[in-house]
Amino acid sequence: MPNAFISGTGSFAPANVVKNDFFQKVGSSDEWIYKNLGIKERRISKGQTTSDLASKAGQEAINNAGLTAEDISLIIVATATPDRLAPSCACFVQEKLKAINAVAFDISAVCSGALFSISTAVQFIKTGMYKHVLVIGADTFSTITDWTRRDSVFFGDGAGALVISETNEDKGFVDFLLHSDGRGKDHFTIMAGGSEEPSSSESIKSKKHFFKMNGQEVFKTAVEVVPTCIMNLLHKNNCKIDDIKCLLPHQPSIGILKKIAEKIEMPFEKVKTNMDRYANTSGATIPIILDETRKNGGFEPGDLVLFAAVGAGWTWGSALYKW
Ligand SMILES: CC(C)(COP(=O)(O)OP(=O)(O)OC[C@H]1O[C@@H](n2cnc3c(N)ncnc32)[C@H](O)[C@@H]1OP(=O)(O)O)[C@@H](O)C(=O)NCCC(=O)NCCS
Repeated sequence: MPNAFISGTGSFAPANVVKNDFFQKVGSSDEWIYKNLGIKERRISKGQTTSDLASKAGQEAINNAGLTAEDISLIIVATATPDRLAPSCACFVQEKLKAINAVAFDISAVCSGALFSISTAVQFIKTGMYKHVLVIGADTFSTITDWTRRDSVFFGDGAGALVISETNEDKGFVDFLLHSDGRGKDHFTIMAGGSEEPSSSESIKSKKHFFKMNGQEVFKTAVEVVPTCIMNLLHKNNCKIDDIKCLLPHQPSIGILKKIAEKIEMPFEKVKTNMDRYANTSGATIPIILDETRKNGGFEPGDLVLFAAVGAGWTWGSALYKW
């Protein structure tokens, strides 16, 4: 069976920077946001759609892999904010990249979407069905944010991408643990616009097309399930935290990341974060931090790297990668 490795990465965020001071008008402050969430600023799209961001990140990843769009057999986009409810954002991206040989679909797992998409891509590579799969995490949460509310501080827009390719060398994705628990479905949700409550003038008036989040439940769940998942994955693969070069996590809040590091007994310097510049870009966080770490020369052959994510659903998981 071939291995599946990361052959290229890319990322893209809108140029428009929104700093914390902007949120004074909704009763928040730079001091509170930075102390509790670790955010200084975020990028907010001005009319660019999710597929616009996704295709720019995707093209960069394809170039970095030394491939062309025609070499890609599958495009998976992890997003909770597709351009339209139908068709998939991945089909928009396929058209924009002119990836004429690629089948394309989205995966919906909100903040765990990139990890779930990566694990799906890896299965297609390991079975020998495809040689090069483009995985993109992309979101424009600015389009589902009520900008008059205080929880508008949490999210930013962006996209990150990776090409996953076949190899016979001893490198690539070692293992995954993925989980879902639908009992958590109300703690982060968009109430209207689906089959349960189709969009109506009433749903718009009551702002049910914006996200609704229970921050305390997110915190409580994240710091419980992620450390357990990471430790189970390491145990399953006879690894210890000391064997790990770094953790590339989803970026929900600096408080959550610090608590996770404390629970798994990992020095916080090994936990990669860019929350200060991007906030939480949902499906895009892991591919963006992966791309930044690679560009900063962060990996050596043989390095063991962990990925971990948690998101709405609940959904969560972890992956072990050998560079
Ligand atoms: C959001 C979070 C920091 C709030 O912490 P908490 O202690 O649970 O929150 P509380 O609601 O009890 O609020 C604590 C204080 O912060 C204040 N506060 C909450 N949100 C605020 C905001 N956006 N701006 C300013 N102050 C805020 C509250 O008013 C309260 O102040 P008080 O003590 O003077 O009354 C924490 O729950 C968290 O990190 N959750 C995870 C959320 C997340 O990661 N979401 C994204 C992924 S889906």
